[in-house]
Amino acid sequence: MYRLRLPLMIINTKSYKEALLPDGLLLGRIAEQVAEELGINIVLAIQPTDIYILASRLNIPIIAQHFDPVESRATGSISGLAIKQAGARGSLINHSEKRLALNSIEKRIKYANILGIDSIVCASGLEEAKTIARLDPSMIAIEPPELIAGNISVSSARPELLIGVVDSVKRINHNIPVLCGAGIKTGRDVARARDLGVKGILVSSGIVLARDWDKAIRELASNL
Ligand code: G3P
Repeated sequence: MYRLRLPLMIINTKSYKEALLPDGLLLGRIAEQVAEELGINIVLAIQPTDIYILASRLNIPIIAQHFDPVESRATGSISGLAIKQAGARGSLINHSEKRLALNSIEKRIKYANILGIDSIVCASGLEEAKTIARLDPSMIAIEPPELIAGNISVSSARPELLIGVVDSVKRINHNIPVLCGAGIKTGRDVARARDLGVKGILVSSGIVLARDWDKAIRELASNL
């Protein structure tokens, strides 16, 4: 079950220094303004240390990039309860830069359900997406690792993959929306993804490293 609204654009700021506080708040304010003006759902996936400030000051959903299902002794872990209490409405799980074993993914999906936050689980290919769909996450995000941070988008390089994932996930559980990410840089990349049936996109370098955040966010969001 998902709670975030669709279609959506997730800006994953990763650990890029350009989007940490205090600049991250400026990025968030721009995203908030574009979301409001265009009536589009924009979500920020940010560092755990920045969640509380951005969630308290911005009127758009904030999610974590990862969390651990721990509630007691686990020094150095990112507590799921802590990110929820800081204001996160969900979390990415199994991003290709933070890969997890299947049983660890399953634990996090279950724990996210207990916390009442969305689990957006990343998959790098069709078979992984199908396996994850059977675990009943809130959403699945397909991201071929080799296209991440490049200039060729998943929607132009691998349209057949997106069609295959959308179709297969729908057969397994039609309540799980499929998102996609990797290499998305232009409005055309977004429009292509949308036309292939995905319900949202994840974008990082195309926005975080852009010279003009407003222009970059606006171009992508207006094609969703
Ligand atoms: O989670 C989104 C991400 O991995 C895509 O990165 O830089 O290709 O937009 P990028």
